[in-house]
Amino acid sequence: MDKKFSITYSEEKRCFTLQMERSTYIIGVAGEYLGHIYFGRKVPDDAGRSMLFEDDFSFMKGVPGDKCTFMDSFPFEYASEGIGDFRPGSLSVRNAEGFLGCELKYADHRIYDGKKKIPGLPATFGTNEDAKSLEIDLVDDTLGLVVTLSYSIFRGLDVVTRSVTVKNNGSENLRLEKVLSACLELPWENREIVTLSGSWGRERFIDRRPIGHGRVEIGSKRGISSHQEHPFLAVVAENATETSGEVIGFSFVYSGNFVAQAERTQHDMLRVGMGVSDYNFLWELQPGESFYAPEALISYSYEGFGAMSRTFHDTFRKHLIRSPYLHKKRPILINNWEATYFDFNLDRLLEIARTAKSAGIEMLVMDDGWFGHRSSDNCSLGDWIVNEEKLPGGLSALANAVNEIGMDLGIWFEPEMVSPDSDLYRAHPDWAVKIPGREPALCRTQLVLDITRKEVRDYVFNSISRVLKSANIRYVKWDMNRPLTDVGSMASAGGEIMHRYMLGVYELQERLITEFPDLLLENCSSGGARFDPGMLYYSPQIWCSDDTDAIERLTIQEGTALIYPLSAIGAHVSICPNHTVGRTTDLYTRSVVALAGTFGYEMDITKMSDEELSEIRDQVEMYHRYSDLVREGDLYRIKGNSPLYKNGNDRASVAWMTVAKDKSEALLSYVQVCAVANRRAEVIYLQGLDEDSEYVLDDGRVFSGAELMHIGFVTDKIWGDAKAKLYHLTRCR
Ligand code: DGJ
Repeated sequence: MDKKFSITYSEEKRCFTLQMERSTYIIGVAGEYLGHIYFGRKVPDDAGRSMLFEDDFSFMKGVPGDKCTFMDSFPFEYASEGIGDFRPGSLSVRNAEGFLGCELKYADHRIYDGKKKIPGLPATFGTNEDAKSLEIDLVDDTLGLVVTLSYSIFRGLDVVTRSVTVKNNGSENLRLEKVLSACLELPWENREIVTLSGSWGRERFIDRRPIGHGRVEIGSKRGISSHQEHPFLAVVAENATETSGEVIGFSFVYSGNFVAQAERTQHDMLRVGMGVSDYNFLWELQPGESFYAPEALISYSYEGFGAMSRTFHDTFRKHLIRSPYLHKKRPILINNWEATYFDFNLDRLLEIARTAKSAGIEMLVMDDGWFGHRSSDNCSLGDWIVNEEKLPGGLSALANAVNEIGMDLGIWFEPEMVSPDSDLYRAHPDWAVKIPGREPALCRTQLVLDITRKEVRDYVFNSISRVLKSANIRYVKWDMNRPLTDVGSMASAGGEIMHRYMLGVYELQERLITEFPDLLLENCSSGGARFDPGMLYYSPQIWCSDDTDAIERLTIQEGTALIYPLSAIGAHVSICPNHTVGRTTDLYTRSVVALAGTFGYEMDITKMSDEELSEIRDQVEMYHRYSDLVREGDLYRIKGNSPLYKNGNDRASVAWMTVAKDKSEALLSYVQVCAVANRRAEVIYLQGLDEDSEYVLDDGRVFSGAELMHIGFVTDKIWGDAKAKLYHLTRCR
């Protein structure tokens, strides 16, 4: 048996063991209940049964009067509510009379190679060779409910996937008020919590804090994973660093409302839960129906945050992102948004395209404002008809002209929206999400389309499809610029809209990439409000933030790359002074920061000087030289910018590396954020190299991997703020 990649069940010990590369996950059956035993460093199969504390519970010895103590103490693998477990529950079910109560007992299990899909939802995938799965059925006979917990593991990765199917096998309607996807009971042991929090323009700032008694909870009620909180949470040892200490990361493969919570309980355990938020959620489950909860991923690292990040990056690159562009060099694009906003026409776009082409840029992306009579953000969403006043001859004329220049064309859509001032809204006012009898709140002067309805989805899909078929369009930026409020529908039950909305978005994106398999899709949501694993299932890259300032991006991209591979992070070189913060940053620094992402431009390139254009040509060359390494390599944070690093980060500089999987090559990016007087050149400790190999730097100096990692590397002395330097290392011996 391969002890780095196996799932077993011991009849004798009544234990399930999931063995991964460097970690083990163990579940046990105690009496009729399923309990969590362990997730941590490698241990033998079936170890740790005493963690179920069966001897502590007289109920286990046949004294029914003490069931309540048991219910509130046992480390349930999946916790149901209403029958004595007062800790955060995973499942809340009401019966036909409205009574809350569900008691889950072990019934059956299956272990198999490969991994099943989750109907209608994004999820990781694997083959019979690189994935193994376990399904455990828990039942409540009184309700006629079957809850199937699904687990998968992947060869070489320390990550467990979890999802849940709830099936009504009874004869009465049931009401689901909460169905989380993962529940994990861990010893508390002074652990801390790390989340990604922020706002528009400040997405995914890393936040680290101790866990006291009571509950820590983050989530989104906005119908999008959101700018403000992120469907990620890590429970970490208080001494965890970039390279050492225990880090357990939870990531949710979902793009709508979520909750992630950790509660330190009376017995100093930590119960962690993650799943669809119970806010505005009420699902009617009729006899014979099933509800599918999305997938949560739980990764394990005892080598700090760096190893957790690389585990998630590889999980997403190998088992989540499906796009044919995943392993391809992405075209260098120039987007006209910050160059023109709504104020453009054919000539202006072609002027940008010509100059961009002369600098080596490969694709022009036409952003918001090409349709209806949209010249500001107050109209025309839903009317996906080209504005011929701006673009005479329509999209085909534009595409032909751009193609003649030698570039590809990409285009912006905001498919889920409708402007009150639009032909679509005038024809179908009931197609907007709103509560009958109430005036819905406008946001950016727009409303959300009720894509829980099939006819609305069909309209949206046909509109996009018609546009894409009308011209040679190779890329779509799918934007979504407002949260859901006034959540009502003429066709869907109130408590189901939020989740059915996400199912609608997923169905639309699935149709899009199925009908246009060669399309490069980039998701976006008012910057990075829907940057999540759910979206990565459909698009290989997601716009990271509307804040394109390189220095701000150091923090935003560091938080984003805590879980997502650089190849997924939409990052552009933009104009200075920056439109969000007014900062002026060296053009080279802007390119080094954008290189830690998909790389592109977002500026009026026609206004650049000859020297700047020639520098952009050099940057384009730089991208071609390093993009394979950045896209496919392993990320190592050498010096971070966030409170992840408790001890002594002066935040005066930031450095990161991407190292080829075979360690033959590495790129070190160093940014001096803030110059400091009377300081020696900085010593940084590289990571991820082969200790026994020698590496040559671009300037010809040769160092051993061991020297660079253990003695350290002395960076060049740099003059000034916000200055960057790239160092490329190639194995020479
Ligand atoms: C928000 C996006 O993040 C921007 O890049 C841009 O596409 C605007 N929307 C357009 O309305």
